[in-house]
Amino acid sequence: MLCYNPAPEMLFNRAVVFLNKHRCALSYAEHNCRFSVAPMLDWTDRHYRYFARLLSRNTLLYTEMVTTGAIIHGRGDFLEYNQQEHPVALQLGGSNPSELAHCAKLASERGYDEINLNVGCPSDRVQNGRFGACLMAEPELVAECVDAMKSVVDLPVTVKTRIGIDEQDSYEFLTRFIDIVSAAGCQDFTIHARKAWLSGLSPKENREIPPLDYDRAYQIKRDYPQLTIAVNGGIKTIEECQGHLQHLDGVMVGREAYQNPYLLASVDSEIYGDSTPTVDRRAVVEAMVPYVERHLANGGRVNHVTRHMLGLFNGLPGARNWRRTLSEKAHLKDAQPQLLLEAMAHVGEPKELELN
Ligand SMILES: Cc1cc2nc3c(=O)[nH]c(=O)nc-3n(C[C@H](O)[C@H](O)[C@H](O)COP(=O)(O)O)c2cc1C
Repeated sequence: MLCYNPAPEMLFNRAVVFLNKHRCALSYAEHNCRFSVAPMLDWTDRHYRYFARLLSRNTLLYTEMVTTGAIIHGRGDFLEYNQQEHPVALQLGGSNPSELAHCAKLASERGYDEINLNVGCPSDRVQNGRFGACLMAEPELVAECVDAMKSVVDLPVTVKTRIGIDEQDSYEFLTRFIDIVSAAGCQDFTIHARKAWLSGLSPKENREIPPLDYDRAYQIKRDYPQLTIAVNGGIKTIEECQGHLQHLDGVMVGREAYQNPYLLASVDSEIYGDSTPTVDRRAVVEAMVPYVERHLANGGRVNHVTRHMLGLFNGLPGARNWRRTLSEKAHLKDAQPQLLLEAMAHVGEPKELELN
């Protein structure tokens, strides 16, 4: 096995150069949100987002859903993020207009680029709180929420929704929702192109069983050309993204961007037409080492960060050893950031390894 163990100061310098090169090329206003990574609870935390940003400068990154209750009453800082994550959108879960307005204001003060309201999550817990997908049946309340948030922030207030819930799955049900919510000032919708069953299916099943109907989203764009419409659900490749972008303003990718994160490395050139060379995985891993060091210095653990990186080398020889080394060792109390380099030494990218 080839041994690769650069000096820490060299890694640090390289990481600084890397990050400078990878500052987002576009401001949020210029950005036009053609490609985003979906909000995913427990997955798209700030560590994943930092990592994702190293892979793509332009991708819009969504936080996990953060409930208004957590922000207002919770212990800890639920709005924490790294400045390098921009453009970054906060997804809120809630349905109390004044609480949402309060949280949107806090988020705006903290520098988030967009506030998104979750109208797509079907979990029981979320329904008990009267938010998420069940709000599709209450468009007037969603409109009030949007209006309340818009009245206190200058940021875009956007909505992520499904195409329907339960038996309420007609095109007219969806357009009534869009009519009422857009009249309150929401100009930007992301449509998860399947309906949600509010009882009988788990959230996971609700991401798999109801069939995808992309045409519904395309039809919305045709009928509301003035609105920004992105589609989400089941998208796995850049080619599929490009296909959807023939009909729509944006695509949002969830599971694939998490499980196979190197997909993000083609987004800048293939979706945004950015001429910067595609980043290589090795440089990304090196740039993560000082990040993990800082996280450790703040009392964190190595695996808080590395758990999001397991899929980075998917498809390459040695990918399994990369995953196994991180899975077996990163949670140990004495694990060090250099574990990333140890794990990477298992991965065969022959040409690159020869250089070192
Ligand atoms: C682990 C996990 C957590 C999720 N958490 C959220 C969430 O917090 N808010 C939300 O709107 N959707 C959430 N979703 C749904 C995704 O945002 C997305 O709509 C769904 O996965 C379909 O897109 P995909 O097929 O590209 O994964 C979650 C999905 C997964 C897999």
